[in-house]
Amino acid sequence: MSGSPSEIQRMKSSPRPIVVLDFGAQYSKLIARRVREANVFSLILPFNVPLDELRKANPAGIIFSGGPASVHAPGAPLPDPRVFDLGVPILGICYGVQVFAHMLGGKVERSAKREYGIAHIEHQDGEGLLRNVDASAQVWMSHGDAISMLPDGFAAIARTENCPYAAIANSTRRFYGVQFHPEVVHTPQGTQILANFVHGVCGCAADWSMGSFVDTAIADIRERVGNKRVICGLSGGVDSSVAAVLIHRAIGDNLTCVFVNNGLLRKGEPDMVRQVFQDNYHINLRCVDAEDRFLTALAGVSDPEDKRKRIGNLFIEVFEEEASKLGHMDFLAQGTLYPDVIESISATGGPSATIKSHHNVGGLPEHMNLELLEPLRELFKDEVRALGKELGMAGELIWRHPFPGPGLGVRCIGAVTKERLDTLREADAIFIDEIKKAGLYGAIWQALVCLLPVRSVGVQGDERTYEEVCSLRAVTSEDAMTADWFRFPPDVLQRVSNRICNEVKHINRVLYDVTSKPPGTIEWE
Ligand code: XMP
Repeated sequence: MSGSPSEIQRMKSSPRPIVVLDFGAQYSKLIARRVREANVFSLILPFNVPLDELRKANPAGIIFSGGPASVHAPGAPLPDPRVFDLGVPILGICYGVQVFAHMLGGKVERSAKREYGIAHIEHQDGEGLLRNVDASAQVWMSHGDAISMLPDGFAAIARTENCPYAAIANSTRRFYGVQFHPEVVHTPQGTQILANFVHGVCGCAADWSMGSFVDTAIADIRERVGNKRVICGLSGGVDSSVAAVLIHRAIGDNLTCVFVNNGLLRKGEPDMVRQVFQDNYHINLRCVDAEDRFLTALAGVSDPEDKRKRIGNLFIEVFEEEASKLGHMDFLAQGTLYPDVIESISATGGPSATIKSHHNVGGLPEHMNLELLEPLRELFKDEVRALGKELGMAGELIWRHPFPGPGLGVRCIGAVTKERLDTLREADAIFIDEIKKAGLYGAIWQALVCLLPVRSVGVQGDERTYEEVCSLRAVTSEDAMTADWFRFPPDVLQRVSNRICNEVKHINRVLYDVTSKPPGTIEWE
């Protein structure tokens, strides 16, 4: 990652960060979060980042993440060996500690027994990496290889029943390693171990917080944008909303937001956006009513990918048209988050199959010739919410469930018509209303209703009905990569079902979706 100007600026203006070298994306993200939870700024860089880039980041310490590879595998990910000569403390975790042994003259071998799950370390390290950690502490192990011989200058500082080198140290060079995973919740004192490294070994002060982020982010935006003009596609979702409020605070009227009503939005959404951003924040807002154009583009289309492509392409067309009416713009603001940035730079993530084509404002064509302004690109989702709170935004806006770009278009299974969308909007509003009344909204990652292209017979009053079927879906998730269906108290489902059948004209049957992800996805299309 070469680092955007704002990132490099941040590196200059903030205290030295902890750099997590990424040997396997899932692990590195969690480590970076834990470091931030210790109020120290962290950055993730790929394991093979050129040494100059690494120096430019000016790290106070480096963490080698875990990863799925074996150091003996052909093409195993290994860092530039000169990283050991930077004079910066290093902590190796799992695969990362094996990198030490492999590159500094020790030995790594396939263990007779793969160690996976909970183990207990024994140690007497009162001062260093394991300071304030119980003499016998639970840890989480997950490894097939293990160190069989330590490199020169290293000593074991903790062992488990199966692993004589569960934690190792070369305190002269300030190199430390743990075979277990301190970043996961199954290592209850892992936070203490990471804090010992970042505060104790690396000497980082606990001074990174959302308050300090707001100040530097505003200064960065002002410096970068100056008197130029910024256009921002506002969706009403958390990320673009927080980005807009932050940028507005930095540059005021030089920001113009564009909100496209594509007719595929939730009940009351256009009014809510107008009220919050125009009336409350006094942000320049252009609301475009493009409902008819989207409905025309979707007429007769029921294939999910075809829908997504049409919605995405038309969004770009409408956005461009609106932008051209606003005169010259210099920057396009986006609510890109750190996980998206890491996905795209991850050296070990590899290309994944396209399951669904996601449509975001990021798909805007290059000929618009706008520089990107992405003030959230260093933040995780929960940090964006904390930032929204810091900016005084209403909890209702900050804690909204995610909503896909193609909106109800991909929840109206089969044909997308105005009538079916109105039906779906009503059912969705009832579902969310009952979830909120039951106090469950915050416990659920995302709740949604799909209208199915199926009709069934029912009886209402004394009348036979033959109407549509809807399916409720509510999931818990950490990051939308995997998800489990939410266990509702039965009376909540009962209330939702009663209300939908009674209040929504064209639905007479309600189902609850009990599919996890995988094998299902969260959205149906
Ligand atoms: P799936 O259905 O792939 O969705 O399990 C994972 C998460 O992504 C959201 N989603 C989208 N978000 N543009 C978006 O910004 C899209 O095109 C899109 N499609 C799905 C989905 O709601 C869930 O939170």
